[in-house]
Amino acid sequence: MRKHVKGNVSWVGYMDWELESFHGDEYSIDNGSSQNAYLIEEEKVVLMDTVWTPHRFDFVENLRKEIDLKKIDIIVVNHGECDHSGSLTAIMDEVPGTPIYCTASAVKSIEGQFGKRGWDFHVVKTGDSLDIGNGKRLIFVEMKMLHWPDSMATFLTGDNVLFSMDAFGQHYSVEELYADLADQGVLWREAMKYYANILNPFSPVLLKKLKEMEGFNLDIEMVAPAHGAIWRKDPTQIIRKYAEWADAYQEDQVTVAYDTMWEGTAKIAHAISEEVHRQSPNTVVKVFNIAKADKNDIMTEVFKSKAICVGSPTVVGRILSSVAGWMEMLGQLRFRNKRAAAFGCYGWSGESVRILQEKLREAGFDVIDENVRSNWNPEEGDLAQVPALVRALLPEQEVEQPSAVADEKPSRYACTVCGHVYDPEEGDPDSGIPPGTPFESLPDDWSCPVCGVNKSMFKKMDH
Ligand code: FEO
Repeated sequence: MRKHVKGNVSWVGYMDWELESFHGDEYSIDNGSSQNAYLIEEEKVVLMDTVWTPHRFDFVENLRKEIDLKKIDIIVVNHGECDHSGSLTAIMDEVPGTPIYCTASAVKSIEGQFGKRGWDFHVVKTGDSLDIGNGKRLIFVEMKMLHWPDSMATFLTGDNVLFSMDAFGQHYSVEELYADLADQGVLWREAMKYYANILNPFSPVLLKKLKEMEGFNLDIEMVAPAHGAIWRKDPTQIIRKYAEWADAYQEDQVTVAYDTMWEGTAKIAHAISEEVHRQSPNTVVKVFNIAKADKNDIMTEVFKSKAICVGSPTVVGRILSSVAGWMEMLGQLRFRNKRAAAFGCYGWSGESVRILQEKLREAGFDVIDENVRSNWNPEEGDLAQVPALVRALLPEQEVEQPSAVADEKPSRYACTVCGHVYDPEEGDPDSGIPPGTPFESLPDDWSCPVCGVNKSMFKKMDH
């Protein structure tokens, strides 16, 4: 069933009330989700995205009830991931030859998933537009790395609707469709969880993109994402919130996350929590057993925190697998400007604290030396180290980002967002940087030729 959105725009997506997880089991779904597809019926009829593969036949049959499928003139694919492109095969069986507008990378994604089927792709770039009649146009804006390389948004002039794809969405089924009608507590909790767990790695790209979009002077009256509620009242509130979240967001909060074998490491976690509250009564403290709590919920709390403490006992010279898996996700999410400490019990060899500190450093945290490393169950002497750990974790001065240090020998640098490697021997001739230019000598306005982030997002490579 269609839902009216604005003017001649209708929602024709899928309310996925039963969904329990997303991206395999990487993302927990607690309040359903939706795959939002839209129909624009001007002189030209445009289908904006589709829904996930398992729902493709329902999608086509529902669409058939709303419109003669042969009337669809244009299909826009804002993103190739199969939760949005997964019904293309079914719809293209009905309307073969219909032109598909998408980015060059989306063509690769779609053909990679569904094979080369001879579809009529029209590759678009930022600023390209398409006349759909009645004085209205579609303007395309590439959203590279938000969250995959092929993503784009489409702006409908006249109605001034920004179809923002994954950006500004939530995994939340909202039958009423609009953010202002949704449960506000759930809406904002799901919006933040979505940002922290999906978009946070690309915050530098997002900040740059938001600035670029400001320059387009789009008079946005509605933000229609690909998941969850549509923002119509004060529609740019979610854009302003993203700008805040993307700028190394933190609240006055500390998160303690651990797993434990025989309760010793749990005892240290509780002692740290109590000490944070004692030293800083206004600081919010959240404590999670990683093996028992939802991993995405913990990540959302990490996102809100200015510091975290991670604990694991030593097990066969390593750390518990629950903590190790969670640490892998922590690294993927590329949190910035946060302090971290490690703690844990051991019986024999006691490597866990060192391993946790290394993993936290790799994940981009500013790791303090102070730790609690307790042989067997923590005793008074072990817990006496907790106050020093908390003092170091909550300094009065905010942590400054380390600046790049010049190195006489030219080193290669890798982009921490997209992985592109700057090799001084090759330079960046397309940007006018000759071979032999050390990374440190690149102009301040030089940016990654692949994803566009600035120099500060590059990290020196070991080799
Ligand atoms: Fe909602 Fe990136 O797919």
